[in-house]
Amino acid sequence: MTTASLPETGTVLVTNVRPYGEGEPVDVLVTGERIAEIGPSGTVTAEEHAERLDGRGGVLLPGFVDLHTHLREPGREDAETVRTGSAAAALGGYTAVFAMANTEPVADSAVVVEHVWRAGREVGLVDVHPVGAVTVGLRGDKLAELGTMAASAAGVRVFSDDGHCVADPLIMRRALEYARGLDAVIAQHAEEPRLTEGAQAHEGERAALLGLAGWPASAEEAIVARDCILASHAGARLHVCHVSTRGTADVLAWGKPRHPRGATAISAEVTPHHLLLTDELLAGYDPVNKVNPPLRTESDVTALREALAEGTIDCVATDHAPHAVQDKDTEWAVARPGMLGLQTALSVVVETMVRPGMLDWRGVARVMSERPAEIARLPDQGRPIAVGEPANLVLVDPDARWTVRGEQLASIAGNTPYEGMALPATVRATMLRGRMTAADGATVGDGVRTATGATERTGGAR
Ligand code: DOR
Ligand code: ZN
Repeated sequence: MTTASLPETGTVLVTNVRPYGEGEPVDVLVTGERIAEIGPSGTVTAEEHAERLDGRGGVLLPGFVDLHTHLREPGREDAETVRTGSAAAALGGYTAVFAMANTEPVADSAVVVEHVWRAGREVGLVDVHPVGAVTVGLRGDKLAELGTMAASAAGVRVFSDDGHCVADPLIMRRALEYARGLDAVIAQHAEEPRLTEGAQAHEGERAALLGLAGWPASAEEAIVARDCILASHAGARLHVCHVSTRGTADVLAWGKPRHPRGATAISAEVTPHHLLLTDELLAGYDPVNKVNPPLRTESDVTALREALAEGTIDCVATDHAPHAVQDKDTEWAVARPGMLGLQTALSVVVETMVRPGMLDWRGVARVMSERPAEIARLPDQGRPIAVGEPANLVLVDPDARWTVRGEQLASIAGNTPYEGMALPATVRATMLRGRMTAADGATVGDGVRTATGATERTGGAR
């Protein structure tokens, strides 16, 4: 399918909706790719054939941007494809995702990043931005051609060896220096490999009880401290992937203000699962709970929520990591680490941050859309909901509840740690440049039949 076969953008009138969950309800008129008019509810008119979206009770936010997604294409299309991952993203309220480079072959060249970028355009449900590998083959010993990937049609501006740490300090230093010249950012998977050899679970009481080799917090914190120093000396931008410990939040609070280009030159993300789940879940040895970095303790979870609320951690990124059954549904020690995240991220953020009063909807827009768009230098994402701005939007139902069923999610793989869990908030609709990509739990215009977990709606039940 080509982009041309997708529905044309037209006119959409969203009625009775509260942008950022604030103030009196308004009507928002979208014409073509942009917001054309915003006025008090009932005052905005649209042509006869305009699409109408009832926003009553809903919260309108800028479309979400995920800095950390694994789409598995090329190479592991048995777990996820650009098409199915894009569907999951649209259903989760995302309008842009960054596809990590640990594919087969690795996205360490212009050819591979352009392939992923083109595949994303063809599906058309979400802007797919390939992340380029920092080192050739993710092997950590030779810099990949960052400049060539940046100059390619994919216009890569985020580089990461995610899944692996760029552990060699000299390679990391050179990568930061190159990235500075490209106004790109190095997204580090912070894990000192010498400290995690054979590691299976967060080092602590729980791992000891279960007889699992410990994964120390220091493996993450030591690399983050080192990289804050390297980035500051290089005057380069650093992004820290999936922060998982209290100590890393402390290191970031120390390192960010010391960067010569200001605190925003060092950024960090936290995953929904590290905001909600702890290593207590490991008691059953169910590999669905195995993830890298590992689930930590209650004290870490508390610190991560606080760091996200106050901005030491900039944003939420899913680390959506689909795995085929044969790689995941096996004994703990050999199971691949990773969890689905795109369709549950909003609900987990609402559960962990909004309901306890740590973030309001403005805050959700900041951590799920505005900051990630700034970090990745996306000019048309994470924009204010205002006349003239691009219509990349998500309509959230804050009062709905739904029960997660892995097999009903759009991903090929079903490895969700939230199976059977009732979570708050659903995505009612997602709009990419004025065109509806998801509505009422189904994707629109991509020719893919997708069910979603957003089935058991019990509006107003929370
Ligand atoms: O849990 C994870 N899964 N962490 C990573 O860093 C990589 C990812 C994957 O590719 O499955
Ligand atoms: Zn990672």
